Amino acid sequence: MYKELIDKLEREQRLSFNEYLILIKNRDKIREYAVQRAAAVRDKHYGKKVYIRGLIELSSYCKNDCYYCGIRHSNKNCQRYRLSADDILICADNGYKLGFRTFVLQGGEDAYYTDELLCGVIRSIKEKYPDCAVTLSLGERSYESYKALKEAGADRYLLRHETCNKEHYEKLHPKEMSFERRMKCLRELKELGYQTGAGFMVGSPYQSEADLASELIFLKELQPHMVGIGPFIAHSDTPFKDFECGTAELTLFMLSLIRLTLPNVLLPATTALGTIHPLGREMGIEAGANVLMPNLSPSEVRKKYMLYDNKICTGDEAAQCISCLSKRVETTGCEIVNDRGDYKNEV
Ligand code: SAM
Ligand code: FES
Repeated sequence: MYKELIDKLEREQRLSFNEYLILIKNRDKIREYAVQRAAAVRDKHYGKKVYIRGLIELSSYCKNDCYYCGIRHSNKNCQRYRLSADDILICADNGYKLGFRTFVLQGGEDAYYTDELLCGVIRSIKEKYPDCAVTLSLGERSYESYKALKEAGADRYLLRHETCNKEHYEKLHPKEMSFERRMKCLRELKELGYQTGAGFMVGSPYQSEADLASELIFLKELQPHMVGIGPFIAHSDTPFKDFECGTAELTLFMLSLIRLTLPNVLLPATTALGTIHPLGREMGIEAGANVLMPNLSPSEVRKKYMLYDNKICTGDEAAQCISCLSKRVETTGCEIVNDRGDYKNEV
């Protein structure tokens, strides 16, 4: 019966809420088959190519206070830093030489990064490296801001919705943050023509298996170009410090279900997955992922962008990261490619 459900999902690229829930509840019995079918679907659309995105963590300042996040505003132990426009361009230069053709500018919601500053950085990167894509992951901004950044040349935007259940959202965030606003931002990003990424944490506090089934229904409806998921990992200086972490096994199963539901999606095997399990990223690729996001931030700031405890790759140089990852990817039968790795529209 579980095998039939996976076959139906592969054929029809959607299931009902109840069918997804049955699979999630019984994942132990069907895990291997799900991995096998998800990898086959990934291969059909993207082959064995794994795209790399150079992550530039530009600021550990954030005005928000998400209960799960290590760089939340109220964390007095977080060391704060911000990269200047020049620092960001040096990271991009370094990344280009290492073969990166996508740069992801990510950070806390930090008012220092005005539209003017960011548009200047985006234009400089695009002028110098017209063959590269620029992805932003800078949280919620106004429609006008998203529009200006798009016009300056940004190609993609990652904004995880964190959960598609409003009540759950309100348990993960303080009252100043709004579920409706998050959803509005995602709609606006798509409308403006960004390749848009949504996503959520697996095993976040108060998340149920039914919530995970709802995530798949939600994603099918939203049709994002990218989906970022990773296990929730507790950070010792946050209100969620005593909650259990998400698991690699559930994250991997969700990766496979996402690949089968959205066959063309760009799906990273995240650093959080590599943190919760030493082979998490390799297993993520085997389960249908096709993107990795190595860190290009200057080594001296990496430990200050500590979203959760024990985050990996905070001590290495970018060049070390990429050679380590290439070897890891080889073990899965896939290979890292130096390519923008845009979303493929074809069926
Ligand atoms: N400020 C931007 C935003 O909110 O989209 C980008 C930075 S934010 C730190 C990036 C992502 O990190 C969040 O969307 C969240 O899912 C993830 N994250 C934060 N704290 C985490 C934790 N404790 N465990 C796992 N993932 C976490
Ligand atoms: Fe803002 Fe985490 S609370 S990035």
